Amino acid sequence: MDRVDESTLKTIIEPFRIKSVEPLRHTTIEERERFLEKAGYNLFQIDAKNILIDLLTDSGTSAMSTEQWAAMMRGDESYAGSESFYRMKRVVQDLMGFKHVIPTHQGRAAERILFTVLCRKGHVVPNNTHFDTTRANIEFTGARAIDLPAPAARDTQARLDFKGNMDVVALEHLIAAEGAANIPLVMLTVTDNSGGGQPVSMENIAAVKRASSRHGIPFYLDACRFAENAWFIRQKEPGYEDWTPKQIAQKMFSYADGCTFSAKKDAFANIGGLLCTNDDRLAMQETNLLILTEGFPTYGGLAGRDLEAIAVGLEEVLDPDYLRYRITSTGYLGRHIADRGVPIVEPPGGHAIYIDAGRMLAHIPKEQFPAQALAVELYRHAGIRSVEIGAVMFGVNAQHELLRLAIPRRVYTQSHIDYVVEAILEVNQRRERIRGLAIESEPPFLRHFSARFRQL
Ligand code: F0G
Repeated sequence: MDRVDESTLKTIIEPFRIKSVEPLRHTTIEERERFLEKAGYNLFQIDAKNILIDLLTDSGTSAMSTEQWAAMMRGDESYAGSESFYRMKRVVQDLMGFKHVIPTHQGRAAERILFTVLCRKGHVVPNNTHFDTTRANIEFTGARAIDLPAPAARDTQARLDFKGNMDVVALEHLIAAEGAANIPLVMLTVTDNSGGGQPVSMENIAAVKRASSRHGIPFYLDACRFAENAWFIRQKEPGYEDWTPKQIAQKMFSYADGCTFSAKKDAFANIGGLLCTNDDRLAMQETNLLILTEGFPTYGGLAGRDLEAIAVGLEEVLDPDYLRYRITSTGYLGRHIADRGVPIVEPPGGHAIYIDAGRMLAHIPKEQFPAQALAVELYRHAGIRSVEIGAVMFGVNAQHELLRLAIPRRVYTQSHIDYVVEAILEVNQRRERIRGLAIESEPPFLRHFSARFRQL
């Protein structure tokens, strides 16, 4: 299994070669100035063709493999009973073990269906940290979404192994205070995206499961980045060093009563999602809703070829060579900027590096959006797009001023990563000159997508 473990060579190489390429377009700093002005200093409003390296998200941005493209040709586009669905279902059941596998067009569609069936006003849903669509879909039903990250996660600089863990003591307190009847499910997001891409240990997954089932509450994984989480367990948690990533993932899923999944992350698909459960009655209610907005249960808003891409991607993502490269490469970006003075959320996560912009740009007050200002400067300087995770996105609820550099899977090479390192270090050198921003206009909700700013 461990084909390269013994190697003494330190250079990180991509465990694939490139068969098809997509050109990147350079722009000048003057052009980028103009694009920024036109976009109201909001990087969501900049056309992708004017971005050199796009680290906005790792979602739906993966490069597919030759095997995925080949499988797509086999896509069975039958409305009902598509062979592609059964192929995908077999792979999912072998990996995750759930009785019911419901395809959806992406992760948030699975969330909407799940919470519509389970949640209502007065309910509470705990999670280590809710992703923003998860929180929004829970709150849309009138229920409350509560984050219970482990206390260790509060210090961005603490170099601990499993900072994505849930605070199980706080979970017990919440169940006692709210009453089990008001908690329709407990969720755990692996890895913890909004908490810095940090992994959750097997021990914590087991403890959350125990606490939930003691009170008869179903336990769900938000499993978007399950394979990256499995790799961290293999590397960091005693007892798992000889397990394959697939065995670890299977054990993670064995604790759960169901999951939501965005295939746009750890299935290397450009679109797709899953809603899984072991509960027959729930599955029936969910498929009834699915038919209303997504489609018949054997395609769920996807083409047969998308189901094929997911089936192949779910197997490829568990290749130890791939996961080793993936996590090492993300860590390389993190270490190379952090060891030269750029404060990041420590330790490096799986899919992204989060710069602590509040620390880096300590001269810019929170009200002037330091993370957004850094995003703008990194684009202006080097054509790199990142995303603010701070007060623009979360308003007064923002815990930190973070800038996320999310790394698309199998898309950029190590030299692209070196370019990103160099650009960030240059920006860091003249950080005192970076100015804050003020909001000029904003929509009533999800303002980060379309707010306009001016430079102060
Ligand atoms: N859960 C987590 C932890 C996520 O990171 C995402 C998406 C979703 C659910 C929703 O899935 O996009 O398929 O509807 N995260 C992307 C990101 C958008 O950039 O982090 P989706």
